Amino acid sequence: MKHLRGRALWFTGQPDGEHHPDVHFLDDAVITLDGMHIHSVLPFSSFIAAGGTPQQVEDLRPAIIMPGFVDTHIHYPQMDIIGSYGTQLLEWLDNYAFPAEQRYADPEYAHAQARGFLERLFEAGTTTALTFTTVHPHSTDALFQAATSCNARIIAGKVLMNRNAPPGLTDPDDAADTNRELLERWHGQGRLRYAITPRFAITCDDQQLRRAGELLAEHPGVYLHSHIAEHPDEIAATLALFPQADNYADVYDRFGLLTDHSIFAHGIHLSDPELQRFASSGSKVSFCPSSNLFLGSGLLDLARLAAFGVELGVGSDVGGGTGFSMLATLADGYKVNQLRNHNWHPMQAFYAITRGGARSLHLEDKIGTLAAGMEADLVVLDPARGSMLAQRVAQAQTLTEELFAYLFLGADHGVAATYVAGQPQYQRKAA
Ligand code: GUN
Ligand code: ZN
Repeated sequence: MKHLRGRALWFTGQPDGEHHPDVHFLDDAVITLDGMHIHSVLPFSSFIAAGGTPQQVEDLRPAIIMPGFVDTHIHYPQMDIIGSYGTQLLEWLDNYAFPAEQRYADPEYAHAQARGFLERLFEAGTTTALTFTTVHPHSTDALFQAATSCNARIIAGKVLMNRNAPPGLTDPDDAADTNRELLERWHGQGRLRYAITPRFAITCDDQQLRRAGELLAEHPGVYLHSHIAEHPDEIAATLALFPQADNYADVYDRFGLLTDHSIFAHGIHLSDPELQRFASSGSKVSFCPSSNLFLGSGLLDLARLAAFGVELGVGSDVGGGTGFSMLATLADGYKVNQLRNHNWHPMQAFYAITRGGARSLHLEDKIGTLAAGMEADLVVLDPARGSMLAQRVAQAQTLTEELFAYLFLGADHGVAATYVAGQPQYQRKAA
């Protein structure tokens, strides 16, 4: 057993402030890890009263120990195009995303990149990711193999696209058989899960979307991961390709793709009837503020989604998004909300990248909180010595102020360590 002493913070529901019953904060706690699970979370005094000794603990104070972050939308093959200049969505796909994904035709390259991707996630404090791969089946194998070697919770699937994409990236048919093989090989292996991943309606014909919906219906627990209503040009192109559909959401709905295991990135421009359908089907939105600002796609209205009862996770959307850090992603989310005249409380924001993200993936019984029996995915937040973050945190009068400082200054100097299934997979080097 391993005993970590620090300030423990987790959420059991959506809090609207610091003093809310769903905010759990222990100023001096011992989190005991037993293999890949949390054995107990106790106040230090209770740990001692139960026979523990100060010598047994690894003292991380004053670090805050939280559940590892959950990124509900990212593209692992797009790491190397983060911050590519000058375009909006459709042109950006042609100029940057597709060429980057074409490089994954080489299996060796895919394997090397997959390992590097996981390292970047852990460095950022992210322990669970729902990610796109590429159309190449071996890019999905490479990622799942890398995740197996460190027991990481990765949800992924082969990208489906059989039209409106470059030749090297276009499935020769509906790719349903390949997709099924991959699903059967990986879904439920340890902590891995499969996501059926039609890129978006523009790049998938009717037959491909239909077969995707059939496969989804046959496999309860498998996810559907796609994009929707991100950019006005994309919406116009989609409606032109599917003139019979009532709206963008209806394109997917007709093929059985709106379910409670469906996660759609962006959703910025969804209409009221589409949001109603999202709510009634249990489909989730992944809020990707950094990408939405970078690609000029628009400002998601979180209050409107909440009013319709649509649940949400947060996605970095690398490489449309500008970095792996979920802290920096929340900072952009805060700014988007400011422009929408909506105050996003830091507690709500941190909820969204822990328990909220876990809920949107139906994983809240396994990850997203600190409690006995949960999987031991943890992030240790502590400002690097001498950093601007350390200087700013020293001024914080409340936990809210401290957390808020992490959003804006924590990306580079906030994460001291990341535990994945009980093992330290990232540790910041001493300065
Ligand atoms: N829509 C379809 N593909 C993509 C992608 O790779 N990134 C983003 N941001 N939107 C998309
Ligand atoms: Zn995306």
